[in-house]
Amino acid sequence: MLWFPYTQMSKIKEVPVLKGAKGVEMYLANGTTLVDGIASWWSAVHGYNNEAINEAIKGQLEHFSHFMLGGIAHQPALQLAQELVRVTPQGLNHVFFSDSGSVGVEIALKIALQYFKNKNIPHKTRIAYLRDGYHGDTFKAMEVSSDSDFNTAFAEVLTPQFELHIPSGGFHATPRQVALAVQEMEDLFKKHHHEIACLILEPIVQCAGGFNIYAPEYLAAARALTTQYNILLIADEVATGFGRTGKMFACEHASITPDIMVLGKALTAGYVGHAATLATTEVYNAFLGDSYESALMHGPTFMGNALACTIALKGIALLEQENYLEKINQIHGFITAELQNINSQHITAVRQIGALVALEFSSAKNLQGFAPFAQQNGAWLRPIGNVLYLMPAYIISQAQIAQLFKVITLWINQLDAQVK
Ligand SMILES: Cc1ncc(COP(=O)(O)O)c(C=O)c1O
Repeated sequence: MLWFPYTQMSKIKEVPVLKGAKGVEMYLANGTTLVDGIASWWSAVHGYNNEAINEAIKGQLEHFSHFMLGGIAHQPALQLAQELVRVTPQGLNHVFFSDSGSVGVEIALKIALQYFKNKNIPHKTRIAYLRDGYHGDTFKAMEVSSDSDFNTAFAEVLTPQFELHIPSGGFHATPRQVALAVQEMEDLFKKHHHEIACLILEPIVQCAGGFNIYAPEYLAAARALTTQYNILLIADEVATGFGRTGKMFACEHASITPDIMVLGKALTAGYVGHAATLATTEVYNAFLGDSYESALMHGPTFMGNALACTIALKGIALLEQENYLEKINQIHGFITAELQNINSQHITAVRQIGALVALEFSSAKNLQGFAPFAQQNGAWLRPIGNVLYLMPAYIISQAQIAQLFKVITLWINQLDAQVK
């Protein structure tokens, strides 16, 4: 029997069964059609069953689908590494592939920790991270994600790391709001820089931890302070990368280059799992030398999978050729227009950036039962805690966005009516 993620299996009754999907539509075995508002955990940005991507896969299949990357290379991996260096912020010149976002994060942390070991600076073994961030479900990733339902079962075995707080005030925070949070970071670094190897953060938007958005000035300050205190900056763009925030990468909002960047999810368009951890030449150079021990000791079996790389190459080409940033801008506008009609005493905050909107409710109870309700009304939406969000494919139409908001409005009206 299937064991589902993040699910109390004793409570599970019936789950829908997917038969097919095309664009942003899902076709269930029971004959129902749903509009998908969350793109398979934000990865299927080109929509399902994309013909151009399908063709690219078929082409590669005729050659081979996978070959170990150890000691041998192939064109899809070589080309994708080159393309990622080209599209990411200037200076990220080295690309290490893996099979999922969590593993990509583990590799980023391993690189940061080993960087200082290789440089003979042995005490830098701790990590700073931002509260309410989420970096994955593997062990080190859990340590640098806020203590939430995702990791409470393992609290006893996780090593505490240094937690910081993002500024209040969202994307357009006041200088004072930013300064307060920057001060906290500076105080921490001043006191503990000799033991901190890296700061890991989700640039601009913290997704699974509650969809909080923060000011680019804070990200710029994090870049400056990490440089000043010889701490590596890891930007986890697994969720924000490839256009989600309205820029190709969220780091661009602050015009920064991190020392290490992690990409996943949209990288392979929701087709297969893959991730990339990129590093600057300065970081990479610390792994060069005579000894085997100073090399990076990681190598997932499926790293650089040829089908995954082919999909990613086609995905990047589509993003550029079809002017997706403009589409994302339009989606932003459609969502803004829909938000004018959203009004409920249960909604405590609305946060919006690029092709992402999050409606925060006063309690997770307000959203209990929402997912099945949405399905009954033709939408695939799954809240996280007390936040209901949309992160659709970039090919979603205005009418489909309107359909999703219709379902949200129905739910809100029902909620508000219960109070009256
Ligand atoms: C910012 C961020 N980092 C890492 C991960 C982990 O990625 P994966 O689920 O592919 O392991 C996620 C997943 O939601 C994420 O949002």
